Amino acid sequence: MKIIVTGANGQLGCDLIRVLETEDTVVPFSHRDLDVTDNDRVSRVIEDVRPEVVIHAAAYTRVDEAERDPDEAFRVNAIGARNVAAAAEAVGAKVVYVSTDYVFDGKKPSYSEFDTPSPINVYGRSKLAGEQMTAFFNRRHFIVRTSWLYGRNGKNFVKTMLELTRQGKPVRVVNDQIGSPTYTMDLARFIGRLISTNLFGTYHASNSGSCSWYEFAKAIFKEAGFSDVQVEPISSRELARAAARPAFSVLDHQAIRLNGLEALRPWREALRDFVRHDLTEAQKEG
Ligand SMILES: NC(=O)c1ccc[n+]([C@@H]2O[C@H](COP(=O)([O-])OP(=O)(O)OC[C@H]3O[C@@H](n4cnc5c(N)ncnc54)[C@H](OP(=O)(O)O)[C@@H]3O)[C@@H](O)[C@H]2O)c1
Repeated sequence: MKIIVTGANGQLGCDLIRVLETEDTVVPFSHRDLDVTDNDRVSRVIEDVRPEVVIHAAAYTRVDEAERDPDEAFRVNAIGARNVAAAAEAVGAKVVYVSTDYVFDGKKPSYSEFDTPSPINVYGRSKLAGEQMTAFFNRRHFIVRTSWLYGRNGKNFVKTMLELTRQGKPVRVVNDQIGSPTYTMDLARFIGRLISTNLFGTYHASNSGSCSWYEFAKAIFKEAGFSDVQVEPISSRELARAAARPAFSVLDHQAIRLNGLEALRPWREALRDFVRHDLTEAQKEG
């Protein structure tokens, strides 16, 4: 298959390329190569490449900054999604829109694809608008909601935790938000399998199981061999961030079950794999 990946330099974008290029022809576009808010250019590029699939992994992901600049968050996450979905539709390509657990309000212990989203911050609202644009402008769509991503490329919680200890800084982590950490390689493999099907619709795709950010931090130190690091559990109120976060954003993988697809492995197993293999490789590369 010929596949376009947007946001190719992002955490997920990089791993999508690593996973897909072994079997498919991947045409990657970083932010610099293709700004998804430029409708004319998005149309021209997709028309020229004529892919079978467009995986739209580009996004405005700065959750707190989105509160101060909602127009930019909606421009990228909603208008950008419309541009990509419509251009893909025009050449008969399937589209994947990568979305988030933050479309939910966090009042339930877990959310299925059939629950009604009710985001509590600007980022979540802009991503929900992107989902709606995608579904409206491309009939052959997959909306893939995921959560708490980490991987080899870019900044993420795992790298931040390890960096804090290296610098000898105190580690204080919130213990009142529960979710599912997800390894970008596992998500990329899932998306790779999904796009070979015609099982269109919305999917929750996160590593299975759940934990708080505090428990996640403890697990990271354990896997990295720093069991003696002191982690202080704190409340979200103590952290005082600009954007509210859902207290529970565990995604139930109902659509994966109903469509007979393979669920992602437990988060703890994925973390171990990442720390032992991918992270070590990334550190060697500098
Ligand atoms: N990270 C998470 O924990 C998480 C959780 C749930 C869902 N998600 C979703 O998963 C997807 C992938 O996330 P990620 O962590 O890989 O994000 P990321 O590392 O921030 O990557 C996003 C990429 O999009 C690019 N981008 C931003 N604005 C753009 C524009 N106007 N045109 C083209 N490219 C643009 C960014 O480039 P620049 O950096 O140069 O701007 C960046 O390379 C996103 O849809 C995100 O909403 C992420």
